[in-house]
Amino acid sequence: MNPIEEIEKLKEEKNAVILAHYYVDGEVQAIADYVGDSYYLSKLATTLSAPNIIFCGVKFMGESAKILNPQKTVVMADEYADCPMAHMVEIDTIETIRRENPDVCVVCYVNSTAEIKAHSDVCVTSSNAIRIVKALPNKKIFFIPDNNLGRYVASQVPEKEFIFHDGFCHVHKSIEKDSILEARKAHPEALVLTHPECTEDVLAISDFIGSTSEIIDFATASDKNTFIICTEMGIFYELGQKNPDKKFYSVGHRQFCPNMKKITLDKVLTALQNLTPEVILSEDLSLKANKPLSRMLELAK
Ligand code: 13P
Ligand code: SF4
Repeated sequence: MNPIEEIEKLKEEKNAVILAHYYVDGEVQAIADYVGDSYYLSKLATTLSAPNIIFCGVKFMGESAKILNPQKTVVMADEYADCPMAHMVEIDTIETIRRENPDVCVVCYVNSTAEIKAHSDVCVTSSNAIRIVKALPNKKIFFIPDNNLGRYVASQVPEKEFIFHDGFCHVHKSIEKDSILEARKAHPEALVLTHPECTEDVLAISDFIGSTSEIIDFATASDKNTFIICTEMGIFYELGQKNPDKKFYSVGHRQFCPNMKKITLDKVLTALQNLTPEVILSEDLSLKANKPLSRMLELAK
């Protein structure tokens, strides 16, 4: 049996489902039962009946699935696949901002550890952040940790006051305006589709800004045929699957998240065989981190 056949067989035997993010390798996306953006994957986790979830993505995603489904076993395909941005806020910083701004709402991008979520008021993902921030009763927002996403949301919600943090995604930060201008010169007919974790100057020259699934949906619905894609390269798999006749161009070799790329078919197979490494969180942390995540699901409806 090859690894793909073994994975299929074990999924049945172990009553497990495989969830994957669009940034993992295409061959891993191909064997997953569900593939999506961060919002879809956290929402979906609450609706699954299988007791075992194998998560192909970075740690904060598996943690969110576990926090929203404490009774399920959530297994990381690779326990060391971790998003550096998820660690970019100190709890002390949140507490200081709260003391100085008693009316502030701490809005936590879901790319954060469970501990940081537990100290926040509401979570957001890139696909629902604008909607949720608009819906909050507070005027003052402390947006953590991503500075670029925070500034983008602020530009779309001018009626609110923002305090920003200085977190960033190294992958999206490395996508440069000049590389996009060069790609545009080579493909003048192309539309530029960009993730909001990119820097302000990149967003300013983009034709569309959205989460990974919003980028895929936009390209799929568009009557245009050529696109320059400004986000992690794993997305090219689903773009190609849904649009075999359209052309998608990258803007250089740095659109690569080394953590997402830790997930391989062999690791998925081992995770299924052993149902480890499991995401384990204390009950107290899980309950505290559940509040902002559940509030996100409620407000995003
Ligand atoms: P999405 O929510 O758009 O899938 O983004 C997740 C992520 O990690 C972006 O870098
Ligand atoms: Fe984190 Fe960036 Fe990788 Fe997304 S692409 S998981 S934000 S490092």
